[in-house]
This record gives sequence, C-alpha cells and structure tokens, in this order.
Amino acid sequence: MKQQEILDLLKKMTLEEKIDQLLQLAAEFYSENAEERTGPMADLGLTETTIANAGTTLGVSGAEEAIRIQKKYLEKNRLGIPTILMADIIHGFRTIFPIPLGLGSSWDLDAAEKMAEISAKEAAVSGLHVTFSPMVDLVRDPRWGRVMESTGEDSFLNSRFAERFVKGYQGENLKEDFSRVAACVKHFAAYGAAIAGRDYNTVNMSERQLRESYLPGYQAALVAGAKLVMTSFNTVDGIPATGNKWLFREILRKEFDFQGVVISDWGAVKELIPHGVAKDEKEAAKQALIAGVDIEMMTTCYSNYLRELIEEGQVPVELLDEAVGRILELKNELGLFEQPFRGADPVKEKEIVLSNEHRAIACEIAKKSMVLLKNDDILPFKKEETIAIIGPAAASKKILGAWSWQGKSEEAISLVEGATSLSKKLLIGNEVFDYLEPTTAAIQEALLLAEQADKVVVALGELEEMSGEAASRSDIRLPSAQLAFFQQVLEVNDQVVVTLYNGRPLDLQGIDEAKGIVEAWFPGTEGGRALAAILWGKYNPSGRLSMSFPETVGQVPIYYNCDNTGRPFETTPDEKYVSKYLDVSNYAKYPFGFGLSYSDFRYSEISLTSDELTPTTEITVSVTLKNQSAYAGEETVQLYIHDLVGEVVRPVKELKGFKKVQLAPSEEKIVTFSIDESLLRYVHSNQEMSSDAGEFEAMVGPNSREVSSVRFNLKK
Ligand code: GLC
Repeated sequence: MKQQEILDLLKKMTLEEKIDQLLQLAAEFYSENAEERTGPMADLGLTETTIANAGTTLGVSGAEEAIRIQKKYLEKNRLGIPTILMADIIHGFRTIFPIPLGLGSSWDLDAAEKMAEISAKEAAVSGLHVTFSPMVDLVRDPRWGRVMESTGEDSFLNSRFAERFVKGYQGENLKEDFSRVAACVKHFAAYGAAIAGRDYNTVNMSERQLRESYLPGYQAALVAGAKLVMTSFNTVDGIPATGNKWLFREILRKEFDFQGVVISDWGAVKELIPHGVAKDEKEAAKQALIAGVDIEMMTTCYSNYLRELIEEGQVPVELLDEAVGRILELKNELGLFEQPFRGADPVKEKEIVLSNEHRAIACEIAKKSMVLLKNDDILPFKKEETIAIIGPAAASKKILGAWSWQGKSEEAISLVEGATSLSKKLLIGNEVFDYLEPTTAAIQEALLLAEQADKVVVALGELEEMSGEAASRSDIRLPSAQLAFFQQVLEVNDQVVVTLYNGRPLDLQGIDEAKGIVEAWFPGTEGGRALAAILWGKYNPSGRLSMSFPETVGQVPIYYNCDNTGRPFETTPDEKYVSKYLDVSNYAKYPFGFGLSYSDFRYSEISLTSDELTPTTEITVSVTLKNQSAYAGEETVQLYIHDLVGEVVRPVKELKGFKKVQLAPSEEKIVTFSIDESLLRYVHSNQEMSSDAGEFEAMVGPNSREVSSVRFNLKK
C-alpha cells in the first residue's frame, strides 16, 4: 500500500475500529492450542467485536493456526485490515540457542546475527510477523532474573549485539523477504536497573547515567532499524515508563527520531494504577496515549475509555489517529495488506523448523558461548581417561532457559548424550538426580562412579525457572544440596570439573576446590553436545564473560566500568579510610571479559603510533599476540580507554573495541585498534555528548583486569 492509501484507509475507519487497532490480545482469545501466558490475566470485559477487531495478537504459533486466525480475522474486519502476529522469540524459535547472556559471552557478532536470522526463518514460516526481541537492557545486578535475557553489563558490547540481532531478524526488506520478522527492542527504558535486583522494582538514576549507560543499547537497535519499541514495567525518575511522556515523546520520538510502533509490556498500561500515578483505567489510558504508547498489551484501558476521553476533549483524536497510523504502517511494512499470511507455510515449516542444519549451527554457537572459568591442568579430558559424569545436570535436557517458548526439552541434547559420542570410557548413573533434593540412592550411586573414575564431571546449576521474568534471587549461590554433594564427591575423588547451567552470574562459593569450572549458561537445544566438545577438547573454549561474577552477592551491583572514587582502595590499600569492605575484596571473582582457553596466549607490551590525538586525526594501538601452546585457539583482544580527567567522573575503564583473533600453535599476530576522537566522547553535565582535551589511557588485554596500558593526549 502507498502512504496515501494508508491515510485513506484511516479516514474510512470508525472511532471504534481505530480504538480496536490499539489492542493486543493473547492467543487464547483466538486459538484452541493457546500457548502459555507471559503475564497476569486481568478481567478484560471484552465484547466479541473488540476481540474480533483487536489490531494485533501475541503468542500464536504454527503455520496452520496462524493462517486460520488471519482468515477468521479478515472475514470479520469490515475494511479487510489484517492482524499482526507477535511473540517472544528471544534466543531461538524451536531450535533454541544459548540464552542472550551466553550469546553475549561469545563476543561473536556474526553468531548473534546468524542466531537471529535462523530464529526469524523458523518463526516466519510458522506464521509469526514480529518478535519481542532484542532485549537490550543493561544489567549490573545478577539477583535480577532477567539478566539471562541481556547480553550484559557493557553498553558498547550490548549496542554491537543489538545492531546485529536486528539485522538478523529483519534482513534488508521486510516487505518482501518473508523469512524475516520485525524486531521489537525492549524494555524502554532501564528495566535492568531495578533496585535490589527485584523484578518490576523502582529504577532511580540520573538522566546523565541513563543516557550514558542505559540508552545506547536501545538507540543502537533503532539505528539498525528496529520497527517496534516495548515499554518497561519500571519507573524512570518517578514516572512509570508506560506513562512517561518525556521518555517516549522527547527521547524516543524526538531525539532518537523513532517513527515506529510503541507497544506496552503485558498489562503495563493498567499498571499505572498500582504504580500510583493513575486513579483509574480512564486516567491510565489518557496518560499512556499522551506518552505515546500505540498498542496496549493485554489490558483494555484504551478499549474501554478512549472513546469517552476523546468525546470529552481530554485526548485529541489526532493522538489516536497517529497511533493507528503507525500500526497500519507497520502492517504495510510487513507486506500484510498484500500477503496477510506472509511467510506461513505448513509444508515448508516441516523442513525448516528444527532442521539438522539449524541444530548444527546452534551447537557451534553454544560452544562459542561457554566460558572456561578455571582449569588447573585438568582439561581437556584425554580419550584414555575414565570420566564419571554425575550430578543433577548430567543427564538434564532442561537446558533451554526461561524464554525458550516453542523449544522442547525433549529435543535437547544432554551432556551425557553429548559425551557418549566422544568417549567410550564414561561412567554414568541411572538414578534421577534432583537439582534441589537428590535422593540418597542417587548420591550413593554418583559417589560410587566418582570413586572409580580418573576424573569427575560434577554437573550442577540452576533450574530453568530460577531465572527469567519474575525470578529474582536474593541468594545467588548454587542450591545447598548441590554444594553438599560437591563436598562428598571431593572425599572420594579430587579430580573434579564442575559444569554449570545457569541464567545469571552466580556466587560460586562452595566449589572452590574444583580443578576446573565451565560456565555453560542455558546453552539451548544442542547444549550438551557443545559442552562435551569443550570438555574433551574438540572445541577450544573461547567465551569471555559479558557480566561480572561477584565473590559474593554482598558486592552487588558490581561491574568493571566503575568509578575510581575519592578514596580508591588501589592507591593506598593499607589505609583504613578507603573505599573497601571489611570482609571481602572489591573485585569480581571473575571479571567482565574474562575467560580461559586451552591455548596460552601471550601479549607484548602495547604501543601507539603517536601519543597525540586531535579531532581530525587517529592513532593506532597495537599489541603482538602469540599462541605459546600446541592448541589452535581464538582470543578476544579487548581495548579499554580511561579518561583521566573529565568534566564529570569517568569510569576507570570503558570497553571501546574488541577483536577475535584465531591463532595456530606458536603463531603470532599483530592486533591493532584505531582510536579517534569519537571514542572519547561521553555525556557531560549538560546532557550533551562531547570529548575533553586532556590525558587518556589506552589499555589492551584478554579481559577487563589484565591489561597493559599506554597514555596519550587529546589536543583540541
Ligand atoms: C512479558 C515480558 C516481555 C514480553 C511480554 C510478552 O511480561 O516482560 O518481555 O515480551 O510480556 O510476552
């Protein structure tokens, strides 16, 4: 449809029809095989007409079902306007990839784009048009259950991932490429900063901090072309995002120049009432529409009160027309007016969804996402070694993660299954080993196997439901029964490797005696096969943490790009009056960017082409990287910059670049980064981005802690 045709269509619509377009209902209003809900079900007081004409639907899947629903929708819609089918495809549709915190640990942007492309392909052929992804909320508090959905604690890295997720989902031409889906970036804004890591809790931060650390990820997704934005449940400076005019009209629409659709999160419009800024649904509807929310997900404040608000002159009809226009434009951009069934194809669905090709790619990406945290000469296993694989996660197929919707655990490959194809000398139990309350029989059997083995894999972790939405934890240690079991194993065999399936950085107290630790996250459908490949050295681990692991939850929030403070511990560690704890270090157990390899990568000293930079020049930082081992491997070389004196306090270091470098045994390569003035800009007290003349430190290394540095000056 042309722009004018959209405007003509809008003019033909009645007030009721326009208001109905702003409603999104869950699949269960349309589909016999409705999927699980992703939010509380309010009493909606809907009429049959409103249900029939609600502008968009969430949670439908399956090509035949999607076609049936669209057909029924078009029959009932007087003007032949199609619905949009949306759903949460967060890290895979049916072929499930590692959770985004795992993808973030891969530092592999190509892998991220490939994941999104495959997810879109499977979702589109199954009838979907929009995914509620990428989630780009910056996270610094592992108590929050949804850190699993984020790529981590750094806005530069999150931004790079956001760009590639959007590219993978949307491709170049949504209107004609029906193997793609529209991306909805979420949750706008700063949902990850919930106080105390408690989901849906208040967010309190300065505008400057919001702009510096939290907004860049969303903006990167929008610059990459994301078609929708979803509001967040939290408040931003005392006003819930879903009713926050400044956030959506000033920042999103004006500053970010976003013309697309804003959709509320589930029930978030009506939640303006419990937030305490709207006295009733009518007030909530008014605030949300004035703030710029186009689609109300799963509550009916708009349906029930917009007519009244417009007739009373409390809300100009132009705001309604604007919202409906954006929704119609989205339907147009998706090609739905011409092809309302878009990519839905029950025949192709059978060959595309969960294909062997997709599984193989998911396995490769899972390998890249895993992080070797510790290796005291115990890994990789040798084929002649007898290995026991014990513990709750050994045979577990519940490794898809909390946002794996269409993924089916029974289709996942467990660690035991993955190992079976790599070693003939495995000792594996038969007893079911519960994550929280293992039976004596299961423990006894496991200890017997451990005693007979050369080395032992103790497979531990969280249950899938211990992370994700509404799954915050105040104590982020492994379950106590697992820690007790680990100690029992040590008594019979101290050659122990712990593997972890989890949705957040954990407090790993209690497994210090492990000689090896592999962080596998929730690795997806092929996770066990990928983990086995790492343990037996078929893949040389290359993952690097994108979120810090604390020593203890008492340090949280803990993140690498922190401020120096006026009394830095490092300067005078023996001084009493410095920024420190009496009972624990200031530092993460495993810092941002950390991860080991089977290779031994050595860095030369850092060098600069010049120690003077101007706004029109650039300087090159370089290091020589050598692989001092017999293992070919991949290193992620990281560039950090520290602005020694800013107009406002600057973090002690900030990630400004990274390069993934493959090195054969004994090979060495020169790795370079170019630095120009743009990398030195930050948000000043006037909320503007700019750089300051002065002294800077460039740092390069394998993680945010082990870096070599060199100074340079920016002259203006
Ligand atoms: C949930 C989540 C959001 C998701 C939406 C639809 O409450 O907060 O991320 O996209 O509802 O399922």
